[in-house]
Amino acid sequence: MPNNAAENMRANYGSWAVIAGASDGTGAEYARQLAAAGINLLLVSRRLPKLDELAAGLRASHGIETRTLALDLYADDAPEKLFDAVKDVAVGLYISNAGADMEFTPVLDRSLDKLLGLIRFNIVNVTKACYYFLQPMRKRGRGGAIVMSSVSGLVGGQPGSGMYSATKAFELVLAESLWAELRGENVDVIGVAAPPMSTPAAVGVLAAAGMDKPEIVGGLYKPADVVATVLAQLGKEPCHVFDYVGVDIEPGNVTAAARHLRIKAVEDSVAKLFGLDK
Ligand SMILES: NC(=O)c1ccc[n+]([C@@H]2O[C@H](COP(=O)([O-])OP(=O)(O)OC[C@H]3O[C@@H](n4cnc5c(N)ncnc54)[C@H](OP(=O)(O)O)[C@@H]3O)[C@@H](O)[C@H]2O)c1
Repeated sequence: MPNNAAENMRANYGSWAVIAGASDGTGAEYARQLAAAGINLLLVSRRLPKLDELAAGLRASHGIETRTLALDLYADDAPEKLFDAVKDVAVGLYISNAGADMEFTPVLDRSLDKLLGLIRFNIVNVTKACYYFLQPMRKRGRGGAIVMSSVSGLVGGQPGSGMYSATKAFELVLAESLWAELRGENVDVIGVAAPPMSTPAAVGVLAAAGMDKPEIVGGLYKPADVVATVLAQLGKEPCHVFDYVGVDIEPGNVTAAARHLRIKAVEDSVAKLFGLDK
């Protein structure tokens, strides 16, 4: 990250960020790029040794402060534990990263427990974490949040991913709503319709299906590129939509621009309806 971009990151988002799902893939990449900007980090996931190793490397190369926390983000009390781990510092950036679903099974072929678990992971706990972290940012008049959704959240019907897509649609709309509600208060929120990426989770799914061939994995987006794009777009748009891979469909920037236009149009018409535009 160029020096002025790093300074802007610190000026806009302060000295501490929290990454939920930080031990590999895009989460670890957010950690690397934010550490390079001099931002201290709370790294959270289930595998503590991986977090500790990443944190030690970032402390050594960038001189930042780090904290690590082993936590299952499916748990009922995960958002409270997350918030508690940094209650003594001013967190200026919250990154909701973990959220993949490894099971490609139609909705009605899953147990209800599994469906409700995914709702807790990607809907209830993401909402609670955004609520906890964004309230103090709003009071301070400074901060931001990144919500990693998916291109799967743009449309239903993807085989075996119905429930996942529905939770990702929720994340995208929640982030866009928070963007609209907080943009006058110097708090930036962005929803990310992330593309197929070569994260360990995604490559693991491909490997299980015997599809982890170099020509397939090599065609996926690289986590480092996705993260650099998102950090550059934070504060500039309500959602960033990446292009699909291998699907001939509307480009991501066209989808994102249409969503942005709709947000503005709906805002204007509702304001008129309730006389809020006076
Ligand atoms: N990869 C893709 O192709 C793709 C495509 C579109 C959207 N996305 C979205 O991008 C985000 C990142 O995806 P990803 O592929 O890197 O896989 P992911 O499993 O969502 O994220 C990996 C990170 O999250 C942690 N994690 C996973 N489950 C967790 C849990 N229950 N509790 C705590 N931490 C957990 C993992 O560490 P531990 O194992 O140590 O817990 C790891 O650090 C997700 O929101 C996903 O929906 C991914």
